[in-house]
Amino acid sequence: MSFYDEVQELRGRYPEDSRSAVLPALRLAQEKHGWLSREALEETADALEVTPAFCYSVATFYDMLHLEPVGRHTIDVCTNLPCALCGAQSVVEAFESELGIRAGETTADGEITLRAVECLGGCGYATVVAVDDRYRQHVTAETVPEIVGEIDG
Ligand code: FES
Repeated sequence: MSFYDEVQELRGRYPEDSRSAVLPALRLAQEKHGWLSREALEETADALEVTPAFCYSVATFYDMLHLEPVGRHTIDVCTNLPCALCGAQSVVEAFESELGIRAGETTADGEITLRAVECLGGCGYATVVAVDDRYRQHVTAETVPEIVGEIDG
């Protein structure tokens, strides 16, 4: 099924206002392209019959939507206050050291992108780290090598 047809199917779930399908449509575009390039945003906007600016504005709000190329895996470390109070900065630094990159960068082999992100919604389980779509709770600098090892393995 083409991307356009898949988006039409998504629109069918929201007969009142197809703008409501923008999030699943953007997820679909990201699955297809790996990230949301200008072309991907325009393709999504065309299929939804909305403006590319609308798609862009929604995409900028959600950390899980990538407006720049990312690696095959993403590691997102929450650095908002509850996680910060539980040592999120030391977790970020441990990942930087383990991966040899800074937050916001991708490893040279294109495998892993490390990001410091806003609240992941698990404040009671700080520090929270999302590895791709899987959340890890109570992460400390000491558990970072194990997490990276699981990705490599
Ligand atoms: S502040 Fe880290 S999950 Fe909410």
